[in-house]
This record gives sequence, C-alpha cells and structure tokens, in this order.
Amino acid sequence: MRRFENQSVIVTGGATGIGFATAKLFATEGANIVIAGRSESSGAQALNELKKLGGQPLFVRTDISNEADVRNMIERASEQTGHIDVMVNNAAMFYESEFLRETTDRWRAVFDTIVNGAYWCSKYAANAMTDQGIRGAIINVSSINGYRALNLSSHYNAAKGALDQLTRCTAFELAPYGIRVNGVAPGFIDTGLSVIGGVNELETEWFKNDYVEKRRIPLARAGSAEEVASVIAFLASEASSYIQGAIIPVDGGLSITF
Ligand SMILES: NC(=O)c1ccc[n+]([C@@H]2O[C@H](COP(=O)([O-])OP(=O)(O)OC[C@H]3O[C@@H](n4cnc5c(N)ncnc54)[C@H](O)[C@@H]3O)[C@@H](O)[C@H]2O)c1
Repeated sequence: MRRFENQSVIVTGGATGIGFATAKLFATEGANIVIAGRSESSGAQALNELKKLGGQPLFVRTDISNEADVRNMIERASEQTGHIDVMVNNAAMFYESEFLRETTDRWRAVFDTIVNGAYWCSKYAANAMTDQGIRGAIINVSSINGYRALNLSSHYNAAKGALDQLTRCTAFELAPYGIRVNGVAPGFIDTGLSVIGGVNELETEWFKNDYVEKRRIPLARAGSAEEVASVIAFLASEASSYIQGAIIPVDGGLSITF
C-alpha cells in the first residue's frame, strides 16, 4: 500500500536538492506533486523526471516571496486535483554576509522568502484544506541554524528561528482543524546549498577535520537529500499521527555536540 495514493503534495523549491528528493519520494508513493519554483527550466526538467514515477505532476512558476504568486499557485494546485493534502515549505536561500555590512534590502529578501513565503504558503494552503474538508499536513524545512548561532549567517539564522516559531504557533492554531504542522531541521546536507561562494563546504579541510575526523557530527558524514525527504514524508504520513509542532533534527547528531 502506497502511503500517499492520490494525495496532492505541494513542495516549494521542489525542483532541486531536498525539495526534489521529497517530490520524488512522494510521487513514488502515489502522490500528485505540485512543484512551486522560480525557474521554468529546472521546473520542466524536474517535471520530466517526476512523470516517469506516475501521478499528475505540475509545475507552477512561483516566487514564494510574492504573495500574489503564492495565492495563484495554491489556486492552480487546487484546480488540478481538487484538494491539497500536504504543503512542504522547503524553499530558501543562503549567502554569507557580515552583519555589520548587511543591507536592509537583502535582509528583507531573506525574510520574505524563508518567513513570509512559508507564512503565505501555510495560510493559503491551510485555508484550502479547511474549505476542501482535508485534514492535511504542513511540513516546514528549517535548519539547525534556527536554534544555533553561526558566523556570517544572522539573516538566515534569524529567519529560520522565526520559521520554527511559525511551526509551533500554527501547529497550535491549526490543530482544531485537523491540520498537523511539523518541521525538520537539517544539518550539513549534500545539495547545491552546500556550495557557498563557489566553494563546496563539504569538500573543505575544516569540514573534513572538525566535523568528520573529530566527529562534531557523531555519524561523521554529511547527510543526503533523500535522508531528509524520508523524515518529511514520515511527518506527512499516518505514522506520525500524534506528532504536532515538533522540529526534528536531521543532522547526524551535530546539534547534540559542542
Ligand atoms: N543543504 C543543507 O545543508 C541544508 C541545511 C539546513 C537546511 N537546509 C534547508 O533545506 C531547504 C532546501 O535546501 P537545499 O539544500 O535543497 O538547497 P537548494 O538550493 O537546492 O534548494 C532551495 C530551493 O529553493 C528555491 N527558492 C529559493 N528562493 C525561492 C523563492 N523566492 N521562490 C521559490 N523558490 C525559491 C531555489 O530555487 C531552490 O530550488 C532550505 O530550506 C534550506 O534552508 C539545507
């Protein structure tokens, strides 16, 4: 029995990395996928791959930092399948930035994507679910940066911390509607986001020395997008029916060390 037969699952930033691995896993398990992303070309490429897995995948060009785009995307997704069952708020961006030199425009762009994007997607998806009589699930892809400090990351870490509070507060407020809201907090995961300023941080000496050889990551390796996707799918499935407002680290143990 496939876990998500005929369910409609929206994944923001679903054409790459963790989002694409998540979209593929849900599709394999019977879901109709809606990818909400900015790039037509990577959306089309992802759609080709998803079609091979079955279902009726759809790509809706969406900048989640734009409320009108999000509203349109939720409407298109509802029209396509008649219902929305799972909303995965995955899209985000990262760049290194000195706090003293950060600009207001760039800071706002990070919050518009990570916090406001998830707010709009959650609000419009949850309203659609209640209108459609669906007891659905929302999963927010956060980061261990949401509760730890890191150099050159105040914008991203502050936004992920706010996303974690959005997770808890919406978990509380949407519970009476039968909507479960949870999150995952990945650590070092091998995706395009690991390449910062042209350098793949997973290939640097500091990563290999500190995190692998000295085992700041107890499991002594980076994770894969698929290993995060499987926890997202668990949080959307009946197997997690009594989990609400949790943010599960998927970090090989990194957040338990110092
Ligand atoms: N890779 C890691 O080590 C790591 C660690 C912790 C958390 N995360 C989180 O995992 C999630 C996925 O990241 P990833 O590692 O797969 O990287 P990724 O860069 O492959 O994925 C991010 C996706 O979001 C999309 N996106 C960005 N801004 C958008 C916008 N305004 N509208 C629509 N789409 C937008 C990008 O185009 C991309 O497809 C992110 O939330 C990220 O913060 C990743």
